[in-house]
Amino acid sequence: MSAPAVEAIDLVKRFGDNAAVDGVSFVVPEGSVLGLLGPNGAGKTTTVRMLTTLSVPTSGTGRVAGHDIRKEPDAVRRSMGLTGQAATVDEFLTARENLKLIGSLYGLPKKYIAETSDELLERFSLTEAADRTAKTYSGGMRRRLDLAVSLIAAPPVLFLDEPTTGLDPRSRSELWEVLRGLVRDGTTLLLTTQYLEEADNLADEIIVIDKGRIIAAGTPTQLKDQAGAASVVVTLTNASDLDAAERLIRTCSDEVHVDPIARRLTAKAAGLGDMSRIGQVFEESGIPVDDLGLKRPSLDDVFLHLTGHKAESTDETETMEEARS
Ligand SMILES: Nc1ncnc2c1ncn2[C@@H]1O[C@H](COP(=O)(O)OP(=O)(O)OP(=O)(O)O)[C@@H](O)[C@H]1O
Ligand SMILES: [Mg+2]
Repeated sequence: MSAPAVEAIDLVKRFGDNAAVDGVSFVVPEGSVLGLLGPNGAGKTTTVRMLTTLSVPTSGTGRVAGHDIRKEPDAVRRSMGLTGQAATVDEFLTARENLKLIGSLYGLPKKYIAETSDELLERFSLTEAADRTAKTYSGGMRRRLDLAVSLIAAPPVLFLDEPTTGLDPRSRSELWEVLRGLVRDGTTLLLTTQYLEEADNLADEIIVIDKGRIIAAGTPTQLKDQAGAASVVVTLTNASDLDAAERLIRTCSDEVHVDPIARRLTAKAAGLGDMSRIGQVFEESGIPVDDLGLKRPSLDDVFLHLTGHKAESTDETETMEEARS
């Protein structure tokens, strides 16, 4: 077991009557990635703000790189970097100037800042844009610059609050690649996200929080298994083939659901192996198919399973009724 890089110890944060974070404890081993997964208002940002000393806990405490967040806030700040939910780069400065500004705030030597800036700009594909003001950057470039800035002091622990929200799929996977590189180099990551896919791609361990409490924890696979198995979904070209298709698919799976209106059959499956087997029997039968694919449980499915309500629910009345009952 490696030493814990981050520990949350019964963290509580109340705003008036509202417990934004309500007794959250976890450990992030050095060199690993923890994904804090939860819907809007779950308490993700509040947890990160407490651990990064930006907000004082109502009760409980935490440690970053062994330093207590209440007793040694300066030491905590020296051992971590933070990329917040909103980009914080100075729009009127260039990428290089942003890096220089933060580097000098950390008291780093000029030569070190210049060399490290070049490396970071290269790593985040910002070399060409390095001397343009950040206000000319796309959302993805700003996010990358934000991350580069939080790395100037080479912190061993990095907190990322929804690092890819608002990015297109390509920028998102590029950023994931950069983050994987950091982890390979030994950085510990704590990232918050609303996307199961993101946690799945990056995290060794996922903690699901809802209404300030941990409702599930485990590896990505463990969580998805809890939400139910994957399924193979087959959409037929002709509704007249439904009966034959159902008989066929039942030779591969014992749990089959038929939706005649959508001409769709859904079969419980263990994974890709089942999908290719089902694909093969359809191919051999000659039944024409519009679409055939594997559907894994989504964050919605995980949430629905764990909480009985949808993750993305912004329906206030529903939430209030739940709170009352
Ligand atoms: N400064 C504050 N004053 C009062 N209430 C707050 C404050 N900050 C957060 N809250 C409340 O605490 C709860 C948790 O908010 P938090 O920002 O931690 O959620 P989140 O999981 O980060 O959500 P999102 O995905 O929308 O960023 C919410 O109900 C929010 O309204
Ligand atoms: Mg947030």
